[in-house]
Amino acid sequence: MKATSKSVEEIEASLTLRIDSKAKELKREGKDLVLFTAGEPDFNTPQEVKEAAIKAINEDFTKYTKSSGIFELREGICEKLRKDNGLSYSPDEIVVSNGGKQALFNALGAILNPDDEVIIITPAWITYFPQVKLWKARPVKVKTFPENDYLPKKEDIENAVNDKTKAILFNSPNNPTGAVYDLKTIEMLAEVAIKHDLYVIADEVYEKMVYDLPHISIASLDGMRERTITINGFSKSHAMTGWRVGYSAAPLEISKEISKIQSHTTSNINSIAQKAALKALSVDTQYMMDEYRKRRDLISDLLEKANFDFFKPKGAFYVMINVNEFLNDHKSTEDLCMELMEKAGVAMIPADAFDMKGFVRLSFATSQEMIKEGVRRLTEYLK
Ligand SMILES: Cc1ncc(COP(=O)(O)O)c(C=O)c1O
Repeated sequence: MKATSKSVEEIEASLTLRIDSKAKELKREGKDLVLFTAGEPDFNTPQEVKEAAIKAINEDFTKYTKSSGIFELREGICEKLRKDNGLSYSPDEIVVSNGGKQALFNALGAILNPDDEVIIITPAWITYFPQVKLWKARPVKVKTFPENDYLPKKEDIENAVNDKTKAILFNSPNNPTGAVYDLKTIEMLAEVAIKHDLYVIADEVYEKMVYDLPHISIASLDGMRERTITINGFSKSHAMTGWRVGYSAAPLEISKEISKIQSHTTSNINSIAQKAALKALSVDTQYMMDEYRKRRDLISDLLEKANFDFFKPKGAFYVMINVNEFLNDHKSTEDLCMELMEKAGVAMIPADAFDMKGFVRLSFATSQEMIKEGVRRLTEYLK
């Protein structure tokens, strides 16, 4: 037999999925588990959005649409980007995709050639690494640390740039750290990108969840619109993970390439979901964000009282804890997470896969009761 694809072979099986399937197995066996694993809102999709989808079905809005998405939705997204982010795009510069995940994959495909390098600021969402590899390019990690609020340093990025560097990919508010990049950091990234003529892919899917400082879109800075691809979607902002609606906003030449990839892979996203997303653009979900803020405050208070070593998140719905003191040569972060699941009844994600060994990620997209109970269990077991 001929060999299978090298670039696919190189992709690691997801650690997150291993933990997740163990948690599900324990749940099936009737184990009482507090789940801090979910990367998705625990809210229901707003009623108006669901009704818009039902209406679309009843009106037989069930045929192919333009592969980049219906005009009204792309127009609505342009209006959102103008209002919320200070960005000016035309509907032709928006491609609606199956979640931010596909938008990101298309964006990488539109700019990468084999052996190009993409600087990924880490800790980062695990999906970035395999996506870059699938386009036969190379992810280059530039690490950030809690001592520096998980903000990237200019010299670290400069040191990673070489002739093959094509783009910088970053995510603020950040999964998994909870960092939010301030204006100074965003300006620094813009300066480096302009100096070295790099593209920037800005993953803004958590933009609505900011607790201490505002979200800034890097494409709004001088000289950045032409080199930035902004990725966003409805999963996190409107509790719509299962609907699979995301999008990219990029200059026309890039959007045309993104559009080509999408038209030959999935075509348009589900027509019903597009109508739902169109409605979602006019639905205020501030009540969800207010609740995430309360949970952020609660979990930070509890972890602080219990003397855990953690970075208080400024955005998104994750918190990372340093668990190095509970590890040894025979116990990895994954071992510890498995042990905590079985013995303490708390499920968390080892952050190794996000490029942060010795740390775990907790998601606080769960009720305040669960947060209290989960941290109580962790404290009782570990402290
Ligand atoms: C950092 C980050 N970017 C993008 C996404 C994509 O989400 P979706 O494909 O549901 O829009 C996620 C989902 O977990 C994420 O954590």
